Amino acid sequence: MSTTFTIDSATSRANPVSAPMKRLTVPAIRKRKTEIAAGAEPLVMLTAYTVRNAQLLDPHCDLLLVGDSLGQVIYGLPSTVPVTLDMMAAHGAAVVRGSFHAVVVIDMPFGSYEASPEKAFESAAWLLKQTGAAAVKLEGGAAMAPTVGFLSERGIPVMAHVGLTPQAVNALGGYGARGRTKAEADKIVADAKAVADAGAFALVIEGVVEPIAVAITQAIQCPTIGIGASAQCDGQVLVAEDMLGLFERTPRFVKRFDDMAGHISKAAATYAADVRSRAFPGPEQTYAPKD
Ligand code: KIV
Repeated sequence: MSTTFTIDSATSRANPVSAPMKRLTVPAIRKRKTEIAAGAEPLVMLTAYTVRNAQLLDPHCDLLLVGDSLGQVIYGLPSTVPVTLDMMAAHGAAVVRGSFHAVVVIDMPFGSYEASPEKAFESAAWLLKQTGAAAVKLEGGAAMAPTVGFLSERGIPVMAHVGLTPQAVNALGGYGARGRTKAEADKIVADAKAVADAGAFALVIEGVVEPIAVAITQAIQCPTIGIGASAQCDGQVLVAEDMLGLFERTPRFVKRFDDMAGHISKAAATYAADVRSRAFPGPEQTYAPKD
């Protein structure tokens, strides 16, 4: 799959965008650090995995993240560990097709980048070619700093990700908040500085106690984007399906802004009842022969 496929407005079920917006750029996002420090609004990022969600979320977001959380959200996998480059490429291309405004960032899946900077470059370049995304995201701190530098110096913008790093769930032993001890807090702050100094254009901070988010946001030169990391970051990200209320169980840091699960269940129940009672399809949904 590649971005050589674009949305055909004649066959798409979605209304065409009346005036496509100019897409934001990675340098513009990076520059927001100083603007936010001077009082500008925080950055808005949501995950998107499908063309339709991208179309609906794009006008409201500065960044769309094709997160490897799609492993759990879309595929029902137990963690992000089994997610592959092919899965990321297919969903990344769909999100780029569905968006005109936000910077699209694509997650590098577990196993596609850790072994060496060269391996990371190969995987990241392939993902960008396949999808048309503008940047990649990878998890890890000081150990990944040489890779962040290697990619950034070769034209691949990198969003880094520290704190709770879900791809390391087997090593961490779960998804609990990080940085409750001084030693762990110091390590997360040092990790953040290492990847920022190496050239990351933005940094996701996930699942940490508030003082860590404050310390990192004050210490580094690129924007911080929090998820379960307090309001003290330069921006926020959530998994869109969590925020939309598609799941009954959500982590403590998620706010459910709607009840999509309720809407879908209600609509499906009404459809089933209408089919069973033969109320659907009615005359409006039925083709009549020409006279
Ligand atoms: O995969 C993902 O959705 C993420 C966000 C939770 C930051 O990495």
